[in-house]
Amino acid sequence: MYGARVPPPRQRRSLSMPKMPGKLHRDGDSHIARILVDALTAAQTDKETAETFTHPFHTYPARLHPATARVLVDLISDGAAREQCLVDPFCGSGTTLVEARANGLRVVGSDLNPLAVIVARAKTWTAPPRRRSQLRETGHSIAGNALQAGKAARRASSDPAPLRKPKGFDPNARDRRLAAWFAPHVRRELEDLATRIEDVRQDDPEIAGVLLGCLSSILYKVSSRTSDTDATWTQRNIGRGFASRLFVQRVDLLYAGLNDLSKVHAPMPEIHEMDIRRLETIVPNGTAAGVITSPPYAGTYDYAEHQRLRFDFLALRHREFEDGELGTRRSFEKDPTAARASWKAALDGFVGKIAATLAPGRRAALVIGDSVAAERAIFALDDLRDAVTSDLVLEAWASQERPFFGIHERRAFGDTPKREHIVVLRRT
Ligand SMILES: C[S@@+](CC[C@H](N)C(=O)[O-])C[C@H]1O[C@@H](n2cnc3c(N)ncnc32)[C@H](O)[C@@H]1O
Repeated sequence: MYGARVPPPRQRRSLSMPKMPGKLHRDGDSHIARILVDALTAAQTDKETAETFTHPFHTYPARLHPATARVLVDLISDGAAREQCLVDPFCGSGTTLVEARANGLRVVGSDLNPLAVIVARAKTWTAPPRRRSQLRETGHSIAGNALQAGKAARRASSDPAPLRKPKGFDPNARDRRLAAWFAPHVRRELEDLATRIEDVRQDDPEIAGVLLGCLSSILYKVSSRTSDTDATWTQRNIGRGFASRLFVQRVDLLYAGLNDLSKVHAPMPEIHEMDIRRLETIVPNGTAAGVITSPPYAGTYDYAEHQRLRFDFLALRHREFEDGELGTRRSFEKDPTAARASWKAALDGFVGKIAATLAPGRRAALVIGDSVAAERAIFALDDLRDAVTSDLVLEAWASQERPFFGIHERRAFGDTPKREHIVVLRRT
C-alpha cells in the first residue's frame, strides 16, 4: 500500500534497531501479534523506508526505525475518525510524526528535549510549494554569503565574523566549552551561519526554525565529538567552507524530503516542547485515535548529555529537560535504588497518561527495550505489565532478542535473553 509514495533511496545511515535478526516471540491477539512481528522484522528487512521522506535528515539516539513506525501507524490508526489525532508523547526526532503525516493523518507530538522539537518540526514542516522554495533559497543564500564573508576576510586579512553572544548565556563559559570541540575556523563559520539564521528570524521565524534544524544536523559532523552517544574527542580535519557546503546539502536533503511528504495532503503536525506528565494540556483526555511511542529505556541514555554541544552552540535552554528527563543513565549511576524506584513511578505515571488520552476502544503501541542499569538487568515487559492500569487491556505483544553489548550486559542477563518489545494496549 506504500508503493505509490516511496521515492528512491537517498542517503544511507544507521538506526537504533539492529540489522541482525533475533529470535522472535509473540503472544495475545494473534492477528495483532503477527503485525507486531512484522513491525519488528521490518527494521531488518526493509531497506527502503529509512531513506524516504525526511527520515535521513538528522541523527538522534535510539530513533525508532521508520519501517517499524510505518507498520505501527497503519495498525493503530485503523478505523480512526477523521477528526481524531494520533499522539507520540516521546516523539524525539519525529519518526512517528513523519509516518503519520505521510499517511494523511492528524498527529500531535511532544518531547521535553528542545532539540528534539526543532528537529521534529523541521522534518514535518508542512507548507505550500512557494514557501518550501523560499526555505531552499534562503538556505543557499545564507551559506553563499557565509562562504563569501570567510573568503573576503582572509583576502583582506581582516577579522572574521564575530562570535555570537546569545542572551542569557555567559559568553566566556560558552566559548570555553565550545573551543574544545571546534577548530577556530570552523567555529567562526558556524557562528556566521547561525547569525544569518538569526537575522532571518526577525522577519520569518518559521523558516529560521527549520534552518536551525539544518544547522543542528551538521554540528557534530564538523566537531571533534565522535557522535551523539559518544562524547570522546576525535581528530577531524575540516577544511574552510566545508561547514557551509554541508549545510547546503542538508537544506537540499530536507527540501527534497519535504516535497515528497507534501504529496499527501495532511495538516502540519502539532509539536510541543513538553513533559509527558502534562499530556492532557495538549490532547484532551479520552480523545486520541491512538498512541505510538517509544519511551526512554531505563538507564540506557542521557539525552541531555547527548545534545549538550548542540544546546551550547545553538543556545537552547535545557534546564527543564535536564531535571525532567525520565530513566536517565546518570540517575542510575548516581543512586541505583532510588533511580529504580523513580523509574517504576515514572512508568506508572506515563502509562496512566497514555491510558487517559486514548478514546475508549482505541489503542497504544509502545516500543520498549530491556536494559542494564547499574549492573542489573531490567525487563521492560515485566515493568510495563506492573504499570498497566485497570482501564487498559494488554492486547498483544511481540519481542525480539537483541545481542548483548559487552561483558556487563552478558553478566547482568545471565541465561535470560535481552529483548526489544512492541506492546499493544487497548483502552476499555
Ligand atoms: C526513545 S526516544 C524517542 C525517539 C523517537 N521515537 C524517534 O524516533 O526519534 C525517547 C524520548 O523521550 C524523551 N523524554 C525523556 N523524558 C521525557 C519527559 N519527561 N517528557 C517527555 N519526553 C521525554 C527524550 O528526550 C527522547 O527524545
